Amino acid sequence: MNTLKEQFQTDFIIGAAVNKYTDQSEQELLKQHFNSITAENEMKFENLQPEKGKYTFDVADQFVAFAQGNDMKMRGHTLVWHNQTPDWFFLDDDGNDVSREELLARMKEHIFTVVSRYKGKIHAWDVVNEAVLDEGDDLYRQSKWLNIIGEDFIDYAFHYAHEADPDATLFYNDYNESDPVKRVKIYQLVKGLLDRGVPIHGIGLQAHWNLYQPSIKDIKQSIESYAELGLKIHITELDVSMFSFEDERKDVTSPTKEMLYLQAERYQQFFKVFHSYRDVIESVTFWGISDAYTWLSDFPVVGRKNWPFLFDESGNTKPAFDRVISVK
Ligand code: XIL
Repeated sequence: MNTLKEQFQTDFIIGAAVNKYTDQSEQELLKQHFNSITAENEMKFENLQPEKGKYTFDVADQFVAFAQGNDMKMRGHTLVWHNQTPDWFFLDDDGNDVSREELLARMKEHIFTVVSRYKGKIHAWDVVNEAVLDEGDDLYRQSKWLNIIGEDFIDYAFHYAHEADPDATLFYNDYNESDPVKRVKIYQLVKGLLDRGVPIHGIGLQAHWNLYQPSIKDIKQSIESYAELGLKIHITELDVSMFSFEDERKDVTSPTKEMLYLQAERYQQFFKVFHSYRDVIESVTFWGISDAYTWLSDFPVVGRKNWPFLFDESGNTKPAFDRVISVK
């Protein structure tokens, strides 16, 4: 059997997100099929600096060591995000919002500490995650970062990361990246950064997709539009949910044959697209390894099992795996 990483060796790197549930058997799958990892949560702000000045690097360090020990690349996820960042970070001792200057100083301190620690060991950093608003005319999502610092919080984050490690490859990462409205906003945001000389080197397309959406046409148009900016493209969090986003069903306890077939079909189409854009796509990362664990079992419907990957709950290949392999 061909492995994923061998099959796509001349196309792109194949990655998977790891987490505290990644057990021995999943580690074997990782070593066999993947040549890159991303920490699903362990490099996020709340994990690295849960309390002011008190960093907890143990698990993140272990993942970095695992990547190094197994000749894998590692994506760093993520430095500046509105989620999973503790409240204290934005507050002073009296519980009021800190000043712009103070928040920039704290941002710089965090970025310098984290990026310097892993200097030379991180293939690409998701410096800013999900800063663009999905709907409406506004470009930026409301957040403490935006409200306290202003729109240039993004510029600062990239400058700090670049100062901390001038050789690091720096990404802007977002979801709904194939939506025609959001695509234009992401393009605008990144174009603005480039025009101002901000050190950014890539765009991350999260690719949280499902059996029905987005359309292949929208995906292609997004890749083409982002590629026009001349940056690298990474697919950063690929999973293919069995349910549409609006579907709140909870009664499906195992994937039907039809679901598995449709999923295989979708995966094949996606990888055909990735393959055809292999000159701009440098890396394709799944947001997990096997169906044994996926964040989608709690999102957007809590406690609903999902089966979004190429390997089933026991680590066996699914129909989707065969179809992906058949693309080349
Ligand atoms: C998710 C993780 O998978 C979950 O375990 C966690 O509870 C919440 O965050 N976009 C991102 C990722 O950039 O960091 C998110 O990861 C999924 C959506």
